[in-house]
Amino acid sequence: MKNQKIEIRLPKMSDLKSLLIMINSLVEEKAMLTIQEKLTIEQEREYLKRIIKDKESIHLFLIIDGEVMGSAKVDRQKNIRDHIGELGISIKKEARGKGLGEKLMNEVINQAIKNFKLKIISLDVYKKNKIAQGLYNKMGFKKVGTIKGGVQYYGKYEDSIIMVKYIN
Ligand SMILES: CC(C)(COP(=O)(O)OP(=O)(O)OC[C@H]1O[C@@H](n2cnc3c(N)ncnc32)[C@H](O)[C@@H]1OP(=O)(O)O)[C@@H](O)C(=O)NCCC(=O)NCCS
Repeated sequence: MKNQKIEIRLPKMSDLKSLLIMINSLVEEKAMLTIQEKLTIEQEREYLKRIIKDKESIHLFLIIDGEVMGSAKVDRQKNIRDHIGELGISIKKEARGKGLGEKLMNEVINQAIKNFKLKIISLDVYKKNKIAQGLYNKMGFKKVGTIKGGVQYYGKYEDSIIMVKYIN
């Protein structure tokens, strides 16, 4: 990490190429994420445009030496659930295990709480994704339940775990 320029900031359209590289590298390693098929640059451009405009979500990127190496978001839920934010995070393989996931998650949660006055952050995670659960436990999330067969992994039903963190 020596001499690397590390920033956490809002997404920009100029992040398109390195974001696509990151997303597709996660697909290649079969990471336990929603996206399980490689994206084209056109699909990624639409996604990036959408998240830059989105007023109901906070997205932050982890940028190392100008390249997108991580992404985290909190989506505010609607109507009677608009005090709840749904969290998602991923860090590119080579940047993992250095405390950066924790840093990015802290930042996105703090900004989402400030902007949306959230009372609860929730997430769901593959039961077998113990590494992510380690991070969430460390950040104060508590498991509230399991949905048996609640999520698919390359066409196979897997259990998912729901975790929440209450904000004082
Ligand atoms: C989960 C993920 C975001 C963690 O990011 P990271 O930058 O590697 O995490 P950090 O270095 O900040 O570590 C924070 C905590 O996560 C857990 N953790 C991270 N790497 C771990 C490992 N290899 N083994 C066990 N626990 C680990 C630990 O609890 C760690 O705290 P500690 O260092 O005090 O033990 C990252 O592994 C990732 O993007 N994985 C692929 C995508 C994914 O699974 N996203 C979550 C979907 S729900």
